[in-house]
Amino acid sequence: MQNTTAPFYDPLLSYEDNYEQGPFGAFDHSPESPVKTNHTSQFLDLEVNLPFGIPAGPLLNAKFVKAALAYGFDLCVYKTVRTKAYKSHPLPNVLSIHPKGKLSANLDTVLADKNYTTPISITNSFGVPSFNPDIWQPDMTEAVNAAAKGQYVIGSFQGTPGNSSSIEQDYALAARLVNETGAPILEANLSCPNEGANKLLCFDFAKVERVAKEIKNAVPDKPLLLKLAYFANDSDILPLLQNLDGVVAGYSTINTLSAYPVDEQGQPALGQNRPSGGVCGDAIRWAGLDMVRRLSRLRQKLHHHFSIVGVGGVSSASHYQEYRAAGADAVMSATGAMWNPNLAFEIKQAINR
Ligand SMILES: Cc1cc2nc3c(=O)[nH]c(=O)nc-3n(C[C@H](O)[C@H](O)[C@H](O)COP(=O)(O)O)c2cc1C
Repeated sequence: MQNTTAPFYDPLLSYEDNYEQGPFGAFDHSPESPVKTNHTSQFLDLEVNLPFGIPAGPLLNAKFVKAALAYGFDLCVYKTVRTKAYKSHPLPNVLSIHPKGKLSANLDTVLADKNYTTPISITNSFGVPSFNPDIWQPDMTEAVNAAAKGQYVIGSFQGTPGNSSSIEQDYALAARLVNETGAPILEANLSCPNEGANKLLCFDFAKVERVAKEIKNAVPDKPLLLKLAYFANDSDILPLLQNLDGVVAGYSTINTLSAYPVDEQGQPALGQNRPSGGVCGDAIRWAGLDMVRRLSRLRQKLHHHFSIVGVGGVSSASHYQEYRAAGADAVMSATGAMWNPNLAFEIKQAINR
C-alpha cells in the first residue's frame, strides 16, 4: 500500500467548501505536459478523442469540469443536478475503506477511516446535493462550452419526489432544464434510493420505463444514458433492455456497491443515522466489469445497438483496456481520477505506444 497524492476533491472539506474553493491538487493549475491521442473514436455517433472520462460526482461545477477537460478527460459528466435545491449530507462524505479482499454485493461490513492509501476504495455519502436551476444552469452552460474538439460534457440529473406532480414528471423537467444548457448528452441517475422503498429506483422496472419514456418525450433529440447500479443476473436486466430499445442510447454502469462502513470500534463511520454507504474505487471493479460483460452479451443476443459506459474501479491504462475488451464503448473513473489527475494522459500515452 502507498500513500496517495492530493486529490482534486478534498475529502476532509465539506461539499460546499469543495464547491467554493476547489478543485485542488494538480487540478488547480494547468497540466505541465498534456498528451494527445493520435486517433479518435466514435461514441454515440460523436467523434471523441479518447472515450474516457469522469462520471457523475467528483466534477461539482464548471471549475472542476474545465480542469478535467484540460487534463484530457474527454467525456466529463457534470455532477447530478435536481429541479430544486437539495442539501448535502454533513461531513464525513468521503472515507477510505479497507475491505478484506473483494467487496461483495451483499452489504459487507468494512473498516472506514481517513487513511487514503492505494489501491484506493472509498465510501461516498452526499445524498445527491443540488443548487437551484438558476445557479446550476448557467454554470453547466459554461462547462459545456469549455469542451474542445473531441470532448463532450454530459449533464447528469435526477428527479426528486415532491418537486413535480410525479417523479416521472420531475425527471422530465430536470431533463428539459439540462437540455437548455446545451449539454450534448443527457444522463438520468436511476441508482438513487426510490421513494418510500429502501431500494434503488433502477430496480423498479415499471417506473424506470415510465421515467425513461417521459424524459425521451421531453427531450426527443438528445442521446439519453441511464445510470444503473449492479444487477447480479441477466434475467434481472433483460426486460429493461427489451422495453427501452430505441428509447435509451446507452447505459452507464455501475454506480456504487452498498456496504456498512464502520470505525475501529465497530460504530457506523458515517454517523449513527447513516449506517450504510456506497462503495466505489478498486473494490468494485469486478462488479463494473461483470455488468459491462453482461450488457455486452445481452446487446449481441438482442441485436440491440445501445452504448455501454463502463464505470467502477478504473485507476490505470490496463483497467481501461480491460473494460474496452469487456465491451464498453466508453470508460469512466471517479475515485481513480480523483487521486490521479494524470490518469487520462497515462491512458493516452499507453494507447499511443
Ligand atoms: C465523490 C463522488 C460523488 C458521486 N456522486 C454521484 C452523483 O452525483 N451521481 C451519480 O450518478 N454517481 C455519483 N457517484 C458515483 C460515480 O459516478 C461512479 O459510478 C462510482 O464512483 C464508481 O466509479 P469509481 O469506482 O471510478 O469511483 C459519485 C462518486 C464519487 C466518488
